[in-house]
Amino acid sequence: MAEWKGRILTGHRPTGPRHIGHLVGTLQTWVDLQASYECFFLIADLHVLTTDYDHPERIQKNVLEVATDWLAAGIDPDRSTLVLQSALPQHAQLTTLLGMLAGVGRLERNPTYKEQVQELNLQPSLGLLAYPVLQAADILIYKADTVPVGEDQLPHLELTRELARRFNQLYGETFPEPQAYLSPHPRLPGLDNRTMHTSYGNQIYLSETPQETARKVMGMYTDPTRIHATDPGHVEGNPVFTYLDAFDPDKNEVAELKSHYRAGKVGDVEVKRRLAEVLNRSLAPLRERRAGLASHPDRVREILIAGTEKARPVAQRTIEEVLEKMGLKAMNPLKTANETMSSSSR
Ligand code: TRP
Repeated sequence: MAEWKGRILTGHRPTGPRHIGHLVGTLQTWVDLQASYECFFLIADLHVLTTDYDHPERIQKNVLEVATDWLAAGIDPDRSTLVLQSALPQHAQLTTLLGMLAGVGRLERNPTYKEQVQELNLQPSLGLLAYPVLQAADILIYKADTVPVGEDQLPHLELTRELARRFNQLYGETFPEPQAYLSPHPRLPGLDNRTMHTSYGNQIYLSETPQETARKVMGMYTDPTRIHATDPGHVEGNPVFTYLDAFDPDKNEVAELKSHYRAGKVGDVEVKRRLAEVLNRSLAPLRERRAGLASHPDRVREILIAGTEKARPVAQRTIEEVLEKMGLKAMNPLKTANETMSSSSR
């Protein structure tokens, strides 16, 4: 459509249900961007296998969980296209083709690869090394120009841009060099003030009950220097206030609460009670939509299939163009052979 600012491709690996960190960090931004961009939202299940290939039984369930959370958060399948990566072999095909242009030394210097190899203590696979090439294929196959991601993904986007440039130099203008779109919201810390991460157990899932949410909030890390409610408290670096800033619509009351906290006039329990209420109130509409969707998993599956089918011809068109430019013709082999013969006899 003419008034669109451009095309977005972004996605998540389906590692489990989404938590409030995903909501604040990415999903709210995506939901807003749907109004001005043509959006493709990718469930990157192939990417999960780069580390979790030994747990195939988890993926199906997590794909549905993620799709359900996205829809509940406001991803609108009438405006945006939801895509299941593994259902479109074109993603893997473009990965192979772009792989010809990706230097191994360059991939070995990718910070996430180095981190994973150190952390996971596993024999690094070709698949893990090629992780950012697959991600580049995800983006370039739709010729997306804008990629909303967190800062941790910037190295992957840089490699995508390099591959696009290299391809364009070698074979002629084909891909736009995609730009990162960083979320305007800072990352939410975990309940224990470390990075919010499923494996740390320090997250609040979107699908949780209000009771579970309240229980987790009451156990949150706060200001460790504070023993009594009358001690002056620290607001900066205190995740309870970071969450209030992200979820409490009443900015004036939050400002007042902060100044009381700094002055030692309000206790942690009271602040946490407010946060539990604010969080549950703010998540209630999402949770209601989620419950509705979760009781109709077939509807969620249909939305994912319909989006994937809508994306398929877009991906296929790019593959045909790339095959052609790289000297491989994607057309009927007989027809191609005839054309080649008649043009060489001329
Ligand atoms: N690597 C991304 C992450 O872990 C997920 C992802 C896969 C992605 N393909 C993508 C993000 C393409 C943006 C664009 O969060």
